[in-house]
Amino acid sequence: MPPRSAKKPAADDVSLAGTRAEHEALGREIAEHDRRYYEEDAPTVSDAEYDELRRRYEMLEERFPELKSADSLTERVGAKGSEKFAKVRHRVPMLSLANGFGEEDVREFVERIRRFLNLKSDAPLVFTAEPKIDGLSLSLTYDKGRLVTAATRGDGAEGEDVTANARTVSDIPKQLRGKDVPELAEIRGEVYLSHVDFAEINARQAAAGEKIFANPRNAAAGSLRQLDVSITAARPLRFLAYTWGEMSVLPAKTQFEMVKAFERWGFRTSPLTRRVVGLDEMLAYHRELERERANLGYDIDGVVYKVDELALQQRLGFVSRSPRWALAHKFPAQKATTVLEDILIYVGRTGSLNPAAKLKPVTVGGVVVQNATLHNEDYIKGVGGNGEPIRGGVDIRIGDTVVVERAGDVIPKVLEVVVEKRPPDAEPYVFPTICPACGSHAVREVNPRSGKEDSVRRCTGGLVCPAQARERLKHFVSRHAFDIEGLGAQRIDEFYDEGLIRAPQDIFTLERRNGLLRLEAREGWGDTSVRNLFAAINARRSIALPRFIHALGISHIGETNARLLARHFGTFDGLRGTARAAVDSNSEAYAELTSIGGVGEVVADALVEFFKEAHNQEMLDALLKEVTPEPAEQAASDSPVAGKTVVFTGALEQMTRDEAKAMAERLGAKVAGSVSKKTDLVVAGPGAGSKLDRAREAGVEVVDEDGWFALVGRGA
Ligand code: IVH
Repeated sequence: MPPRSAKKPAADDVSLAGTRAEHEALGREIAEHDRRYYEEDAPTVSDAEYDELRRRYEMLEERFPELKSADSLTERVGAKGSEKFAKVRHRVPMLSLANGFGEEDVREFVERIRRFLNLKSDAPLVFTAEPKIDGLSLSLTYDKGRLVTAATRGDGAEGEDVTANARTVSDIPKQLRGKDVPELAEIRGEVYLSHVDFAEINARQAAAGEKIFANPRNAAAGSLRQLDVSITAARPLRFLAYTWGEMSVLPAKTQFEMVKAFERWGFRTSPLTRRVVGLDEMLAYHRELERERANLGYDIDGVVYKVDELALQQRLGFVSRSPRWALAHKFPAQKATTVLEDILIYVGRTGSLNPAAKLKPVTVGGVVVQNATLHNEDYIKGVGGNGEPIRGGVDIRIGDTVVVERAGDVIPKVLEVVVEKRPPDAEPYVFPTICPACGSHAVREVNPRSGKEDSVRRCTGGLVCPAQARERLKHFVSRHAFDIEGLGAQRIDEFYDEGLIRAPQDIFTLERRNGLLRLEAREGWGDTSVRNLFAAINARRSIALPRFIHALGISHIGETNARLLARHFGTFDGLRGTARAAVDSNSEAYAELTSIGGVGEVVADALVEFFKEAHNQEMLDALLKEVTPEPAEQAASDSPVAGKTVVFTGALEQMTRDEAKAMAERLGAKVAGSVSKKTDLVVAGPGAGSKLDRAREAGVEVVDEDGWFALVGRGA
């Protein structure tokens, strides 16, 4: 196509009337070129021609600002954040990796696998070893070899649709090649930036007065997640493929060969990937890569080991959100020395007084650090707290020179005091005994089980403490809980302080109250932002049960326990009813709580405590008028043991106890430790004793190991 602008008069020569139509036509034309370029990877004009069109378009707007409207292409460039990425559900969840930090962790990882698979100590076990790249993961879906979707990890279940952005990354093939490309292939890997490209981007950002990125990882994430795709296109993002999600046909039987298949199909994969056998080879690889780390030209933060044989990966399965067959063996954290300028106290969701160090800014492994955690009162005193005492066992004082440590995304820590540099007038820090947020006494409780004084000092203000209420609300709306778009921590602070939102249920009555509140009249707000906020809130009136349970912020109920509870009870009423009936620790309800795999007495006690409080009951009643927790999905509900309670007893010969339990759970069964009225099936091996007797008495179905496999199949 010839460049249109060549035939057009200069913008100065034209009148507004004649220009509006041209402006619109140019806009359509540019949008079409954008689509061809980014989405189809098949531009029909040269870059120079495209630039001409764009220049003319902008020139017209400069001359006639009246032409600019909200959907003008030039507006769209600057308007990032006003639109949102669409959500994509991953066909197979994107999981994380368990971390190991020292040789001992790797040894345990290997031994755990051997035990789980019941391997003889001399049977060889092959792993792949590869660098853990410090970027962000991306899942690419190919339909008959054609790239159809690219999604970020998000919360693991649902990510953001960044397909248009991914198409601008040259390492990401739009079309796969080769004979063995499956009908459907989800290829996953890491998007990252090289050190050189990162420095160049920051130099450009600085020159343009734009935000500087803290590290290559943030820069890569910021570059990929751009609503204006041309910004992504201008950043030299890289992509390395290392794993997969759904795959209609597996092209290989081992991890190593899978990655080789990715290469054949057109992906870049890490040239540093090796097969290693045994602990010594694994550790040698780790040492070697750590030596090479500084010369690679991009950030890595450890080594990933994966069991090579896919059949074994399948048997090993997952614990919580990470595969049992893989381990991220991290490199040690990086350190630097600086001065502790102040100690600030933040009040947490459970009333904990959390001390934080304000530091003289210092670069640690390429990143500027100015805040670090000081854990708790005992840590500052130098006597330990729950973790290890500070090195040297001295106390920490304002004015001290300290060693700070940063490991990956973890909050930096103050690790050590350089005592020789302590100013002579530095005084011991006096930890507050009064809550800085509400003035209530802050105390260190004595743990009733251990009889020991807690290292954490807590505000006794409970419901009257605004800091606690605010933190509880922030937790409620956070990413793994209600995840309400447009209602982040800052906005919660603001709404809390003004009394608009004081409890979770208030979020859902906001729209009804808006006749009075008139949010759209606030500074920086408008009809659209208010409408979007209400839409985001209303979208959460129905919510997955695990998220709902997690959002309540019950102590000891994190994501994993919330998922376990959801899976066990299926409905919120089920959980609530049992927890309320469990006040007596001799009750059947209490026994039911503690029989849930992974739920011990500490968790059961926390549930009982939470549900017996009158104000929590009131809050729940009000909240449940607004919100409906969806009944939990029962995993593999078509399996013959889904929803059943199974007890394994006696010796198992074809699988280990852990493997049996994991298999049953994968099939949607609950595994219990003892036989009760609720048991549906007992799998008994040789030597089964009292449990088998009890099962027979109660008339519970009993099968042996072969019977189990006959029921669920061998491939489960
Ligand atoms: S495998 C089920 N391999 O680490 C396992 N992950 O902590 C899927 N990562 O989200 C991940 N390098 O972003 C794998 N060679 C590698 C990796 C790697 C970096 C990241 C990835 C993942 C995170 C998990």
